[in-house]
Amino acid sequence: MYPNLAKREHLKNLPALFEQFKDDSYDAVAVTHGPGLEPALWTGIEFAKKLAAEKNLPLLPTNHMEGHIISSLVQNGRLENIQLPVLALLVSGGHTELVLTKSWFKYEIVGKTLDDAVGEAFDKVARMLGLPYPGGPEISKLAQKHRGSQKLGQKNGLVEAEPTRGPFSGQVSAMPKLPRPMLNSGTCDFSFSGLKTAALYALRDLGGIQKLSADEIAAFAAEFEDAVADVFVAKARKALIDTGAQTFVIGGGVAANSYIREQLQKMVLDEFPDVEYRLPHLGITGDNAIMIAEAALCHLLTGDWHEPPKEFKATGNLSIAQKML
Ligand code: KG4
Ligand code: ZN
Repeated sequence: MYPNLAKREHLKNLPALFEQFKDDSYDAVAVTHGPGLEPALWTGIEFAKKLAAEKNLPLLPTNHMEGHIISSLVQNGRLENIQLPVLALLVSGGHTELVLTKSWFKYEIVGKTLDDAVGEAFDKVARMLGLPYPGGPEISKLAQKHRGSQKLGQKNGLVEAEPTRGPFSGQVSAMPKLPRPMLNSGTCDFSFSGLKTAALYALRDLGGIQKLSADEIAAFAAEFEDAVADVFVAKARKALIDTGAQTFVIGGGVAANSYIREQLQKMVLDEFPDVEYRLPHLGITGDNAIMIAEAALCHLLTGDWHEPPKEFKATGNLSIAQKML
């Protein structure tokens, strides 16, 4: 991560944004105060404070993770007909957590990663496979190709044959099985650093990526994605049982992963027919400004808002379970 680069980008982009602000058609200013990279957060906060004071608008410091939850729940621009409790699986480059909402704007963490975030694991394993950053979408694409060719191979009875066909024929030598960390820990917590290390060793045992065909790299990507999906399904299942949540939602960059979306959906449909599964629009799974505006708007419209203390600060490690400002 490059906090100072992020800060510089903010300093460059915010004045351009300000230009668009000139038409005065806004009701409030929302700003992320955490979690995130403090220099970048701080730049945004200073800017928002000045803007709100100048335009005499309410200022709403907003939690980044609440933005992910609320924006993922919104459907067709509306936040309605949502049965509480809501269970959210938040999966991004910085976070992996299961968050329970029993009453609006109150959040309880029921499970979290004990080490790396899942997006970080996707990015690191992608790098091991020689794929560009961000690695999540790259792994997902390869895994999908692999599964598609496996299906085709099965249909043609070719899966057991020697790998003699072109790229993505799906015919690969046996791929190592990766671990599913903490699957049976009896908690809703996660761990991804062991999976990442296991991937590293497995690649080394295979002789490095130079020794692997495109098919084999795709098969490896699929095995990694499978491992992550298995863990998410098991932990989400446990959390749904433990909490009795009525709505299940996913958010954060990794929530764009189509295989993970589908596997979770299958589990909820099969095992929790009374639970509503809300899938966020692909355009808002990764970090964006709309999610912060939507979360702030919910607070504003429901009256759950007061003028923040003048000196409120950026909080890099702000937890969603922490009391709002
Ligand atoms: O929420 P986000 O945009 O930023 C953070 O707050 O971290 O998440 C970024 C993460 C990156 O690690 C990226 O590789 C991952 O989301 N990601 C994916 C996919 N699209 C983005 N991971 C798996 N599959 C995807 N399709
Ligand atoms: Zn995020």
